[in-house]
Amino acid sequence: MKRAVFPGSFDPVTKGHIDLITRSTKMFDELVIGVLVNIGKVPLFSLEARVEMLKALTKDLPNVTVKSFDGLLADFVEQEQADAIVRGLRNAQDFEYEMALAQANSKLNPKADTVFLATAPEYSYISSSGVKEIYRFGGNIQDMVPELVFDRLQDNNG
Ligand code: PNS
Repeated sequence: MKRAVFPGSFDPVTKGHIDLITRSTKMFDELVIGVLVNIGKVPLFSLEARVEMLKALTKDLPNVTVKSFDGLLADFVEQEQADAIVRGLRNAQDFEYEMALAQANSKLNPKADTVFLATAPEYSYISSSGVKEIYRFGGNIQDMVPELVFDRLQDNNG
């Protein structure tokens, strides 16, 4: 039984995240989505809203659970007894950051390896921070986020 953690801030969840989550569920028996509690900036969505939306968006994926975590990812991975951490790679910039993150996490918790998935080309320009900025300046983010997230933003229910 192989369990992986897919960690992130998910503020907001993007179509790129959902693609990576869906692909990861085919590689692991169980996937735990770990939503970071404190993202260190003013969030667009509260923790509760992010968890709730991820639960709704993954309701048809039977091997997914959604949990929140605070503190070190390596500790959450240990607590979940996971074998792997899944992260997406969009470009070379991601690679540099993600490599350092993976190596630090491996030092802190050698039991879990980081697995990188190449982001699908149609989503490689999407980032949560980019979506947030476009949204805050009134741009159209419809193609970048799942419909549920888009509707929620329209309702201004963050
Ligand atoms: O969606 P993000 O913001 O790219 O996710 C980043 C995340 C949550 C994976 C990273 O910030 C993280 O793991 N934070 C938890 C604190 C931690 O473990 N920091 C040390 C990393 S070596």
